[in-house]
Amino acid sequence: MDAIVLVGGQGTRLRPLTVTTPKPMLPAAGVPFLTHLLCRLCDAGVDHVVLSTSYRPEVFTAHFGDGAALGLELDYVTEEVPLGTGGGIRNVVDRLRAGPDEPVVVTNGDVLTGLDLRELVAVHRGGGADVTLCLSRVQDPRAFGLVPTDSTGRVTAFLEKPQTSAEIVTDQINAGCYVFARSVIDRIPAGRPVSVERETFPGLLQGGATVLGHVDDGYWLDLGTPTAFVTGCRDLVLGRAPSSALPGPTGEALVLSGASVAAGAVLAGGTTVGAGAVVGSGARLDGTVLFDEAVVEGGAVVRRSVMGRGASVGAGTVLSGVVLGDGVSVGAGNELLDGVRVWPGAQIADGAVRFSPDR
Ligand code: GTP
Repeated sequence: MDAIVLVGGQGTRLRPLTVTTPKPMLPAAGVPFLTHLLCRLCDAGVDHVVLSTSYRPEVFTAHFGDGAALGLELDYVTEEVPLGTGGGIRNVVDRLRAGPDEPVVVTNGDVLTGLDLRELVAVHRGGGADVTLCLSRVQDPRAFGLVPTDSTGRVTAFLEKPQTSAEIVTDQINAGCYVFARSVIDRIPAGRPVSVERETFPGLLQGGATVLGHVDDGYWLDLGTPTAFVTGCRDLVLGRAPSSALPGPTGEALVLSGASVAAGAVLAGGTTVGAGAVVGSGARLDGTVLFDEAVVEGGAVVRRSVMGRGASVGAGTVLSGVVLGDGVSVGAGNELLDGVRVWPGAQIADGAVRFSPDR
């Protein structure tokens, strides 16, 4: 079975981590995030995946090559100019092997899922659908596309990012994972940007196509923001997000080979310590991601944060809800709190930043 994975986005919400590394290639629990998704596709019976790339395509090919190490056959198609989600799907059509009525799995490359893809394909085939969308249920659907369905599972509308309570007619959201009949992909307009969410799906509904929604209550998270990225990594390490791609046993923390963690350091809440990273005595890391070669000196506290490759924090510094780009150096005795992002290579002197809320 064919699958298309959309990995061409610039990942602007995850900057500065995505300045050098495309979002799907950021390390999550010790492997590029995309590895978890590719293994999930493989486990569901997909044997041929086309990566639809645009931003920094060379990073994907250099790591995954022909896909043999994962037991998949990987193809790459790169857009000259970004074509959006629908355009990115259409642009790879020449590489598909499926016949006109056969199913093709299509998924965003930035979702961490425990969704049952075999079940999704079975629902699609059983319903004779043109497209079947996987739907998740969320508490607050305002940041998502809502997809209400009728009692037979047919989609009745596509409502992008509703704001008022009157617009929130369902808690079912588009999970960014679909099955298309191959012939539907052939009919997406070529050579121009197309949004599958805003143009293709509403157009299919209007034209009377059979568009099904399948609600799956398995684990699902869109890793688009720093908060979501930290949460996804935490859930992988704690075993809440299923994956067959974890590089080793996990628990409260995942410590990769060549890392050094001093006695008396505390690693908690699904923390990852990257290869060659160093954690000093008395440091406390909670729900945090250290990329390779990062350094946390003694007594520092790092919560719900990401430290890029080779980034360092000095003794006694506190980070909470922070993103440090690659190579950032934060001196001793600093306090950087929620939402702060530091661009690659920046240097912050000892005691230069303190948080002092208005009273
Ligand atoms: P933000 O810039 O932070 O919104 O992230 P993003 O660029 O990844 O956009 P978004 O999260 O909306 O994209 C959803 C999925 O579609 C992701 O897997 C992207 O990699 C992918 N994607 C977005 N735009 C394009 C595009 O123009 N071409 C291709 N091939 N994929 C895209």
